[in-house]
Amino acid sequence: MIDVSKIRNDFPMLEKTMHGKPLIYLDNGATTLKPQCVIDSVCDYLTNYSGNAHRGDYDLSHEVDTKFEHVRSIVADFIHCKPEEVVYTYGSSDSLNMVAFGYGMTHLKEEDEILITLAEHASNTLPWFEVAKHTGAVVKYIDLDKEGKVTLENVQKAVNENTKIISIAQITNVLGYLAPIKEICAFAHQHDIVVCVDGAQSAPHHVIDVEDLDVDFFAFSGHKMCGPTGVGVLYGKYHLLEEMTPTRFGGGSNARYNSCGLVKLKNAPTKFESGTPNIEGVIGLGSAIEYLQKIGMKNIEEHEAMLRKYAIEKMKELDNIEIYNENGVGPIAFNIKNVFSQDGASLFNTYGIAIRAGQHCAKILDEYLHVSQTLRASFYFYNTKEEIDQFIEVCKKGDDFLDAFFG
Ligand code: ALA
Repeated sequence: MIDVSKIRNDFPMLEKTMHGKPLIYLDNGATTLKPQCVIDSVCDYLTNYSGNAHRGDYDLSHEVDTKFEHVRSIVADFIHCKPEEVVYTYGSSDSLNMVAFGYGMTHLKEEDEILITLAEHASNTLPWFEVAKHTGAVVKYIDLDKEGKVTLENVQKAVNENTKIISIAQITNVLGYLAPIKEICAFAHQHDIVVCVDGAQSAPHHVIDVEDLDVDFFAFSGHKMCGPTGVGVLYGKYHLLEEMTPTRFGGGSNARYNSCGLVKLKNAPTKFESGTPNIEGVIGLGSAIEYLQKIGMKNIEEHEAMLRKYAIEKMKELDNIEIYNENGVGPIAFNIKNVFSQDGASLFNTYGIAIRAGQHCAKILDEYLHVSQTLRASFYFYNTKEEIDQFIEVCKKGDDFLDAFFG
């Protein structure tokens, strides 16, 4: 059980107001608020040991290296892998681009097939379109079931002898369904297919065990789990990371090179981390993970499931609300009937409630959903039932939209 009222004191942003009302932050799918311990850890680095990583031969640099590498172990413990399988990136998009360009580009050939779904967001779609253009491979789609879920059965139907890579979200960012990743990996591996999982919307909310899932690649971002922006992780099975080509070359990633262009790269994960990394981001990510672990991922999962169920029950009582993913585990995608989604979000805004509107970077989802835009409310462990009550009151006001706005 989570003591939410105690936890909320950790988040300075929860003292903010918006339009004179206490901020109700329900856009956690986009980014999350930061607890004081994360802010402090970033400030501590910037104030007290602000040197570069992996470059200096003095105490300060050694301190940075120790803390920077310690976070790799924290991440490894969080997703259950080896520290050397953790690559620091700039976020999920960067991680997915690294898989597409560093692995896909060198392992795909004409007529090979990459399987994704219509529910993926742009960062798990556009890199594959681009790689397909360069390699002659083809992007194909796993059918979503009638609720918008990925099922093992539909994966089995979509796979053929040309399928080489499956790249899907564990939880999609609009429909919010949990894909059966473990079963998909077991099936895919029987057919020598590599599985890349976008964990941006799952890692912050659920216990992740990459070894148990047996995924080949797993991507997630720091800022969606209480960490800083501009930092993320790519997990890869070590032998795949070794086969993979970096997408950035430069300082820090090479062992040596000469004027003839002969380059000897360092081993994974360092070969992927050219240039000065986002050190304060990594430090903050480590602190965020420790904070989440202290609360307990199972507790987080339970609290959010309770909030979602509560919100869905209340929303279903309202005739003016259309819900698109009643049985999901992630965000709630909905519309106020006959109200343009951006107008809906503006209405919530006037009551201090932050939710997202539009296509949510998932711009081919409308080919499945047949609705061009939605509102999206996404929760985290610091949200409360009382906040959902406020949210529901505004949903009701949407019934008489113009009165609500100008009345
Ligand atoms: N992909 C993020 C979202 O779903 C930005 O809002």
